[in-house]
Amino acid sequence: MTKSEVIEQLLPKRRSAPRAAATAFAPANIALCKYWGKRDAELNLPTASSLSISLGKLGSEVTLAPRAGHDRFTLNGQLIAPESSFARRAAAFLGLFRPAPDFYYDVTATNTVPTAAGLASSASGFAALTLALNELFAWKLDRRKLSILARLGSGSASRSLFEGFVEWHAGRAPTGMDSFAEPLATKWPDLRIGLVVLSDKEKPIGSRDAMAQTRDTSPLYAVWPETVARDLVALKEAISQRDFTQLGEVAEGNALAMHATMLAARPAILYFLPESIEAIHTVHALRAEGCEVYFTMDAGPNLKLLFRKADLRYVIKGFPEVQVVAPFAT
Ligand code: DP6
Repeated sequence: MTKSEVIEQLLPKRRSAPRAAATAFAPANIALCKYWGKRDAELNLPTASSLSISLGKLGSEVTLAPRAGHDRFTLNGQLIAPESSFARRAAAFLGLFRPAPDFYYDVTATNTVPTAAGLASSASGFAALTLALNELFAWKLDRRKLSILARLGSGSASRSLFEGFVEWHAGRAPTGMDSFAEPLATKWPDLRIGLVVLSDKEKPIGSRDAMAQTRDTSPLYAVWPETVARDLVALKEAISQRDFTQLGEVAEGNALAMHATMLAARPAILYFLPESIEAIHTVHALRAEGCEVYFTMDAGPNLKLLFRKADLRYVIKGFPEVQVVAPFAT
């Protein structure tokens, strides 16, 4: 099934004329149980479910307006070249939603995740684009359908439609109509995320290609789906019981297991820098001293810390540059 066929099924049959402009915001999210591997690359359907936490006010704001001639992209106040990877990915996604072949978009995006934070902005970006499209054309789609549409842009974007803890159900249907994200009810006000930026250099390989290479060549990938299944149950249990130790241990173990599958890929995929290893040792040293902090890592060298409010000053001692997010702050 193609993306266009999925979209055709989801959008209202009667289409309204676009509004003059529409603006939407979506938060960035960090997976505690990772999405790593697809069963369908066209529709970004995952092999396994995943679970994330959204970053509140950190994310992407997108304004869309109809435009003649060609698409135009402005990111954080700067006009972006059409051949840049940002513009190409956004144009490919928006191309799925042109009401006429000569209909183009003026896209103004602002990332409230500091650009040097080394956090993927594609999840919040595609989620915000989807929400802005929903407004621009007054589709009035529910969040579940919007989550499916955002997934067509980037898998992890399906989770950025929601605040707090979010589970993305892998689903089974070849159409992906059962592969959407949903928020969990639990709130955890004293939970903190720390962003530790170690490098903002270009990554050796993007997550999309890295995922495919891992699945195709890593002997350790065979155990990944069962690892995820177990971790997901343990994480949901930790969340519902507010068991921080279990949450941290499972999230850290899941991230390391994902990186282990990559290290065993041929050729190996290594996102760790010497600074990443050093930071991991700092996390472990803090823990040995009684400060309960854990980390997770994605397709890049930076660490994201998990800790509780009461441990903030100890975490800052180990990581003076850490940027702290309170995901459940009102
Ligand atoms: C390591 O969502 O960026 O961050 O679906 O190909 O766009 P595509 O991949 P993407 O992959 C995210 C991978 C990850 C783990 C996660 O967010 O669950």
